[in-house]
Amino acid sequence: MATQSKTLFEQFLAPIFSHLVDRDALLRLRDSIDWEAGVSQFTNPQVVYPNYYKISNFHGIKNGYLNVDAALTYDPITQYVLPPGETWVRASLVKAIGGEPRRILDLGCGTGTTTFMLKRQFPNAEVIGLDLSPQMLVMANYKAQAAAVDVTFRHGNAMSTGLPAASFDVVCATLLFHETPPAVAKTILSEAFRLLTPGGQMLVLDGNQRTLRAADWLSTIFEEPFIRDYGQGNVDAWLGYAGFERVRTEDVFWLNQLSYGRKPLPVAERIGEPEGDRQSDDLPLPQPA
Ligand SMILES: C[S@@+](CC[C@H](N)C(=O)[O-])C[C@H]1O[C@@H](n2cnc3c(N)ncnc32)[C@H](O)[C@@H]1O
Repeated sequence: MATQSKTLFEQFLAPIFSHLVDRDALLRLRDSIDWEAGVSQFTNPQVVYPNYYKISNFHGIKNGYLNVDAALTYDPITQYVLPPGETWVRASLVKAIGGEPRRILDLGCGTGTTTFMLKRQFPNAEVIGLDLSPQMLVMANYKAQAAAVDVTFRHGNAMSTGLPAASFDVVCATLLFHETPPAVAKTILSEAFRLLTPGGQMLVLDGNQRTLRAADWLSTIFEEPFIRDYGQGNVDAWLGYAGFERVRTEDVFWLNQLSYGRKPLPVAERIGEPEGDRQSDDLPLPQPA
């Protein structure tokens, strides 16, 4: 009897994507970047890769994000997996930020697509993207230079960034938590809480946990090692556990969700705040296109 040697991802999704992706353009892009120099420029030798990150294959790519192929193919594939449209889904996070933040941190920034949108929306803010993969950061930096966007990329672990406490007005994470064990997601939220100023906003855009529970085939087909555990979890509860208030989650179309939390203000600064929950004034919900 024949044994199944190919994963579902290899059998079904990879052939579809290979038709959608312009392979020659990718090869030209690969050859136009000095990956070796870029990786050594971004690698911080102090960074220790957590086990889940080293041993996992994400999106069916061997060695996860620590390779050039992952960084090259990430954008061409991601545009097809965020219905009804990648920009609309990402914009739901950017538009939900209230006020005029001075410093914004994008955790697990990958190739920087959301990071750039944050900078465009808040041109006066200092925007930093942090990621564990030097290869993804090389790609992000290449895109930043090509588009002349002034953002900073930093190699680091979102669980323990080494950045100063209370130094950001906004911390966000896009499409990060479905790729981490829930315990890691909770640790990242505690680190984000530490990094935020009082009153600072935390935003998490990721897979819709309700949808993932209702449509288990999604977890099977995407072959993310932790997506099923993520789907069984509850980002609201994780935010509350980390200390955030005004927590809530809204659907972003069918496949994604956006979660919010605010780091509490000191008691003295709460005086004068209206009674009750004003979160809907502070954080406008994304509306379908
Ligand atoms: C699915 S990608 C999302 C990238 C980007 N945020 C986006 O929206 O396209 C997940 C990213 O998280 C990064 N990552 C995973 N665990 C991390 C951690 N503990 N600290 C920092 N980055 C991490 C991966 O290297 C990868 O670039």
